Amino acid sequence: MRARSVLAFCAFIVSVRSTLRTDRQFWLDLAHNELEEALKVKWNLNPAKNVILFIGDGMGPNTVTAARIYKGGESHRLVFEKFPHMGFLKTYSANKMVPDSACTATAMFSGVKVNQDTVGVDATVQHRDCEASLQTETRLQSLAALALDANKSAGFVTTMRVTHATPSPLYAHSASRSWECEASLPNHSPCKDIARQLVEDWPGRDLQVIMGGGRQQLVSNATGTDEDPISTSPWTCYRQDGRNLIEQYKTDKETRGLKHSVVMNNQELRELNVNETDYLLGIFSNEHLSYEHERNKGPEGMPSLAEMVRAAIKVLQKNENGYFLMVEGGNIDMAHHRGWAKVAVSETLAMEKAVQVAADMTDEEDTLLIVTSDHTHTLNINGYPNRGSSIFGIAQPSSYDGVNYTTLSYATGGPGSFQFYVHKDPTLPTGSMVTRRDPSTEDTEQYNYTQIAGIQLVENYHGGGDVAIYARGPYSHLFHNVHEQHYVFHAISHAAKFGNESRSSAVQVSAFHLAIIAAISFFML
Ligand SMILES: *[C@@H]1O[C@H](CO)[C@@H](O)[C@H](O)[C@H]1NC(C)=O
Ligand SMILES: *[C@@H]1O[C@H](CO)[C@@H](O)[C@H](O)[C@H]1NC(C)=O
Ligand SMILES: *[C@@H]1O[C@H](CO)[C@@H](O)[C@H](O)[C@H]1NC(C)=O
Ligand SMILES: *[C@@H]1O[C@H](CO)[C@@H](O)[C@H](O)[C@H]1NC(C)=O
Ligand SMILES: *[C@@H]1O[C@H](CO)[C@@H](O)[C@H](O)[C@H]1NC(C)=O
Ligand SMILES: *[C@@H]1O[C@H](CO)[C@@H](O)[C@H](O)[C@H]1NC(C)=O
Ligand SMILES: [Zn+2]
Repeated sequence: MRARSVLAFCAFIVSVRSTLRTDRQFWLDLAHNELEEALKVKWNLNPAKNVILFIGDGMGPNTVTAARIYKGGESHRLVFEKFPHMGFLKTYSANKMVPDSACTATAMFSGVKVNQDTVGVDATVQHRDCEASLQTETRLQSLAALALDANKSAGFVTTMRVTHATPSPLYAHSASRSWECEASLPNHSPCKDIARQLVEDWPGRDLQVIMGGGRQQLVSNATGTDEDPISTSPWTCYRQDGRNLIEQYKTDKETRGLKHSVVMNNQELRELNVNETDYLLGIFSNEHLSYEHERNKGPEGMPSLAEMVRAAIKVLQKNENGYFLMVEGGNIDMAHHRGWAKVAVSETLAMEKAVQVAADMTDEEDTLLIVTSDHTHTLNINGYPNRGSSIFGIAQPSSYDGVNYTTLSYATGGPGSFQFYVHKDPTLPTGSMVTRRDPSTEDTEQYNYTQIAGIQLVENYHGGGDVAIYARGPYSHLFHNVHEQHYVFHAISHAAKFGNESRSSAVQVSAFHLAIIAAISFFML
């Protein structure tokens, strides 16, 4: 017993010392290892047979830093931080300096910047201009469509509704991201809702993998439970037109003789027969999927992003031509909107687990694996907490009023983030004073702790800073400096020889031949 506690004490000392080493050798080793790694980096010029694009929604650089510190301390590196190539993306949209998720996803999937809140249509379409979005020349082709055209498989996995802003530009064309079901379309609109486009139109109906939430967008008069309630918020949509698009999905696949599976919970996903499944639809929730720390992991519950990615890759890799897969960690953004930095960090780490699954299941020789984000949030990491402190803890007392402040804060926030109080004080020249709530009287380590925000709004708004893009595999070196967000489409198309880029190698060869002919003619003259 005594020996054991002595051992435990020693282990404790060693672990504290090893996380907080400051000696010269420690820093030299860290840097030498990085240098060795950097010197080994080679360009991979293989065609990208497979492409997996991870989007951490709202996962700005400070979110990644906070996740890294929470998981392993300041010197830790997340899986995707070890990828050999990276760059930055400028996230502004065609009409906004600070974007939403629909225009940014459209930029990355279809190669042009477009207007805020529009889906899969170019910038000639203004928000909610249904007529303009019906003109075929305004409609953009996505990477999923190009992958199918190249006889590859394509699909997506998200923790959001499958009709939400990030996945929908893969398959839909809509003048508004909110037209997810018929109930949110204006009366008598000739436009088709996003859920119907997913199930009825191309490329949605040919996608091999569709997984996420959004049952109440797909099935009329869906019913909820305590754990998985129906939402009537103005941000969502409740289908009531009598359609059951999940049944329609099954009928379509049966009619075309396509092997398919529809799964609704963990047990059904775990029992999936991949051999008998070429088309997989997984709808695990009426709304968005639960946060990772709250989700029911039992048979009736919802899967993690990592579990969905594993199943998706198993189905997609059956195609010997390869595949395109988009994965969205959407609850990072949802948590930031509520001002819950710890939940946003936990969701970032849940996505990291999914990235690890994708990295383990694929070969860097033939699979371009990308991790990026669509936009930032206004999360700040404030000065000057000590190294080794909890990222969710107190930084120090303010030199202005002596009241503690937290290391993390937001610039904008909803009511819960507003932590200033006005006190009437007739002895003061202003007649009142403002005080700040003292975070050291609260448990800032709770998932539901709301960090302070400077400007009060209905919720935390997105930020307009650049986001990082990390890449490994064929042509990952195309991400190497500060890029336009819509460049992602062009770099992926080049790597995977999609669309116009499928001809570019032929063009290079003929240019090469022309040069030889020119050289020969020169010598003959
Ligand atoms: C895809 O497959 C079809 C049918 O087998 C074939 O006609 C077409 O040329 C193929 N396209 C590409 C890009 O390989
Ligand atoms: C759904 O509910 C609406 C409104 O209560 C009702 O009018 C409609 O008949 C219901 N549809 C179905 C398919 O049950
Ligand atoms: C699926 O197919 C593979 C290869 O044909 C086979 O080895 C495996 O046993 C099959 N699995 C099931 C569950 O049928
Ligand atoms: C500030 O927070 C620290 C850590 O929680 C606490 O020990 C300290 O008493 C607090 N100081 C003030 C002035 O509230
Ligand atoms: C936060 O969560 C804790 C533990 O689940 C709970 O006791 C507390 O009431 C919650 N606080 C708020 C503000 O929701
Ligand atoms: C592909 O090439 C055609 C013909 O040159 C051009 O009109 C079109 O804009 C190109 N598409 C993309 C996405 O670059
Ligand atoms: Zn958002």
